[in-house]
Amino acid sequence: MRAFLLTIVVLLHWLFVYPGYISDRNQYEQDRKQIVDDEEALQAGNDFNLSSKEADVDRIFMGFKEKELTRGFRHEDQHTAALHFFKAKKMIEKGDVFPFLKMMPKGALLHVHDAAAVSSKWVIKNLTYMPGMLRCSTATNRNVFTFRKLKKKHKCSSSYYRISEERDYAWYTSIYDDGLEKSINLRAAYPEMVFPTLKDVWDKFQNMFGTMGDVFSYLPAFQRYIWQMLTELYLDNVMYAEIRSSLKELYDEKGKVYSKDFTTRLYINISKKFVKEYPDFLGIKIIYGGRRSDITTIKQSIKEFIQLNKDFPEFVIGYDLVGQEDKGMPLHSVLDALDELPEATRLYFHAGETNWFGSLMDANLLDAILLKTKRIGHGYALAKHPTLMQMVKTNSIGLEISPISNQVLNLVWDMRNHPAAMYLAEDIPMSITNDDPGFWDAEGLSYDFYYAIMSMAPNSAGLSLLKALVWHSIDYSTLSSAEKEKGLSILNRRWEKFLTEVITKWGKKKNKKLNKINKINKKRRLSTRFPTK
Ligand SMILES: *[C@@H]1O[C@H](CO)[C@@H](O)[C@H](O)[C@H]1NC(C)=O
Ligand SMILES: *[C@@H]1O[C@H](CO)[C@@H](O)[C@H](O)[C@H]1NC(C)=O
Ligand SMILES: *[C@@H]1O[C@H](CO)[C@@H](O)[C@H](O)[C@H]1NC(C)=O
Ligand SMILES: [Zn+2]
Repeated sequence: MRAFLLTIVVLLHWLFVYPGYISDRNQYEQDRKQIVDDEEALQAGNDFNLSSKEADVDRIFMGFKEKELTRGFRHEDQHTAALHFFKAKKMIEKGDVFPFLKMMPKGALLHVHDAAAVSSKWVIKNLTYMPGMLRCSTATNRNVFTFRKLKKKHKCSSSYYRISEERDYAWYTSIYDDGLEKSINLRAAYPEMVFPTLKDVWDKFQNMFGTMGDVFSYLPAFQRYIWQMLTELYLDNVMYAEIRSSLKELYDEKGKVYSKDFTTRLYINISKKFVKEYPDFLGIKIIYGGRRSDITTIKQSIKEFIQLNKDFPEFVIGYDLVGQEDKGMPLHSVLDALDELPEATRLYFHAGETNWFGSLMDANLLDAILLKTKRIGHGYALAKHPTLMQMVKTNSIGLEISPISNQVLNLVWDMRNHPAAMYLAEDIPMSITNDDPGFWDAEGLSYDFYYAIMSMAPNSAGLSLLKALVWHSIDYSTLSSAEKEKGLSILNRRWEKFLTEVITKWGKKKNKKLNKINKINKKRRLSTRFPTK
């Protein structure tokens, strides 16, 4: 009896006198919810309200997303969101998220380099079968493809071989073609072994522009190539693009050389013809890319830009410097050259594509912003600069985020560590771009969207974030307000059509499954969805 009373006393004491480490559990839960809500309010896409049709599509999408993330949680070797693109590509294609994203209208593509935009498979299947194509190789065994013999032999140490003859002699055409494709694609089963350092991969990457350059500027090939570039974007449901280009001089069968002015006119013609054939494509504009090499080259490119911009103000809209930032020539060192630009010039600088925090190259972000860049190519290093990040937000400078590019070119391995996760969490202005998809087997923009929504966005992010990214790509574009209006009306129409297609394709058939997902999603806001059972 005494023992019993004692127990009661201890219990009462514990209940009423010692409140425990967490004194008020309800208050704790309330505080916790408040913080979660505050963070959610900061996220990109939180200001997009979904229609009931969109909410249905969101549920379908979340079902797909959770299935793939859960698989990844259980089996890390199948965790596409965390794996290198070269290892994940086939698995990504087999899931449901990818075909969903492919169907989705993706708005504008604001960062792509024309000379690396088209899938290597097409280049091999189409361009290398054009009559007259030659190959030579350099002392370091790099292939150069061309349609002309030059006195300086393209820096080749071999003589020129006819591709068609080599192909005829080959035992298997497909093996020969695969060999050719390797010289214009970074794909590797074990990229960490083929490219152990960032320099290895950048060297091969830059070399590929050399391999392809003379094919790209062969007039008959150029026409097909640009058409194919637009086709691949259009088939991936991109409706407009702003393309980095140096508008190279072209040459023809007879060796005649055509000026940049001609290239620009031709570009405009191809774009117009494409729009005529596919009226829900808005067309393209060019951001002139000078090469970040030496000051003379940069000055020359500025001169060329000024002329082209004067002659084609609606088409050649702005200037950028392209090439590996880590190699040097930071913006601050070329201010004198940039000073030659007319006051009204629109700039679209690559900046912050580096892991060297606090280096001269890292400061490109600072100078790009001070030079009033309209957008920033990559902005990978921006997360390390809070003041600059604030300026980007205040001035609505859109970041052009190219996830796969940053991974393949060795800035980040696990895409969940990509700084764009932070940009999404704080709603820093950004859109998803693909940079050089042809050089790494990523046709169109959908693969980059895959990583954006699967790796960088929180588990709970679905259609409202996707929609925000799509609509922002139009906001940060350089379309005139009339063009924007037209673009948005097309986008709205296509978006509605997309919603209907998704519901037709995935909605009814899987009703039962959907209901289950529905229930799960109700709880989704506050729960960390992983681990699941
Ligand atoms: C979304 O809905 C909320 C609450 O109903 C409203 O305050 C907000 O303005 C809406 N946002 C948009 C972009 O319509
Ligand atoms: C190559 O591409 C062009 C379009 O640019 C097309 O007309 C032609 O049929 C293609 N050729 C082959 C062999 O695929
Ligand atoms: C572009 O099209 C116009 C009108 O059709 C034509 O006169 C011009 O020669 C074309 N220019 C080029 C470079 O193809
Ligand atoms: Zn780029």
